[in-house]
Amino acid sequence: MFGSGWNETDVSDLDGVTAVVTGANSGIGYEATRILADHGATVVMGCRSVNRGADAVSSIRDATASGSLDVRELDLADLDSVASFATVVDEAYDGLDLLVNNAGVMALPYEETGDGFEYQFGVNHLGHFALTGHLLDDLRAGEGIPSAGADDDGRGPSRVVTVSSGLHERGDAEFEAAAGGEDAAADYDRWDAYGRSKLANLLFAYELDRRLATAGASVRSFACHPGYADTNLQLRGPEADGSRVKRLAMRAANAVLAQSAAAGALPTVYAATAPDLSGGEFVGPGGLLGMRGAPEVTESNELSRDREAAADLWERSEAWTGVAYDLPEAR
Ligand SMILES: NC(=O)c1ccc[n+]([C@@H]2O[C@H](COP(=O)([O-])OP(=O)(O)OC[C@H]3O[C@@H](n4cnc5c(N)ncnc54)[C@H](OP(=O)(O)O)[C@@H]3O)[C@@H](O)[C@H]2O)c1
Repeated sequence: MFGSGWNETDVSDLDGVTAVVTGANSGIGYEATRILADHGATVVMGCRSVNRGADAVSSIRDATASGSLDVRELDLADLDSVASFATVVDEAYDGLDLLVNNAGVMALPYEETGDGFEYQFGVNHLGHFALTGHLLDDLRAGEGIPSAGADDDGRGPSRVVTVSSGLHERGDAEFEAAAGGEDAAADYDRWDAYGRSKLANLLFAYELDRRLATAGASVRSFACHPGYADTNLQLRGPEADGSRVKRLAMRAANAVLAQSAAAGALPTVYAATAPDLSGGEFVGPGGLLGMRGAPEVTESNELSRDREAAADLWERSEAWTGVAYDLPEAR
């Protein structure tokens, strides 16, 4: 059932599942939200613009979603906003079954978050690290995803899914550069910084799963990537540079080479719901060069599985965000 050709009609019934999706108004997050809601889930859409979130809700409703949608403000470049969003979710819902750490930015000119971190690392990794830590008790209180190893109610553990990229291979583990400042700005390469943030997504997702397993928690962590999908991601760098030519070139490349955003969302939805996963897997498109095709469990590079790099990143992330996880070190 879950071999090649897996698509959104194969998603299990998600009635009773409560999910949070970050960056839910656009691209992969929008499509993942639509598919989850279409199968009965309640989705809290974490969006930095509530207006863009409301537009997304209207268009998902037009596409016949059956679950319920709830837009809440979330700016991952601002750790206070992350904490407020988590408080709102905690107060509005009785447990959480799924957290999809999806929002992201790519190859922007040098900038820092309000808290002073290199922007891509701040949004793509640190914001999600803090969010997951804030929501861990809610995930523990969730009833979980219909899954293998299910309890008597037919539900398995709650899940955290973190969206990375094939470009994690470009990333190094020189995380000090992510702390921002003049040296970081002077040495900045926008693609290296994106790669570092996407490597951090993987190191975090795998380390989280090891720590959850060590704790015997009823929550597991997964990673995924969408291949190359036609979204707004590729347009933001050229827009920030004010370059219409580069923007048009990116649009043309997307039109010719990329798969649709809906196809790009399938690895996320597979990682979030497929009953045959147990924890710590990396899911991506199984077709041409991992850029397109139906989702399957795939490999990430050796550095992403390095436990020392993961422990270093974890320690820095706790110190930088001020969010300490109530989890033991991984065995
Ligand atoms: N598309 C691809 O080919 C591809 C390939 C590899 C990995 N990915 C990954 O897929 C994920 C989703 O990207 P996408 O392709 O769907 O791009 P997208 O269409 O640009 O969507 C990105 C989402 O993230 C949100 N976001 C950006 N900065 C944020 C912030 N500070 N706080 C909260 N939300 C913020 C955006 O909000 P706004 O709409 O307000 O900007 C948008 O909703 C990213 O993690 C990306 O790295 C994509």
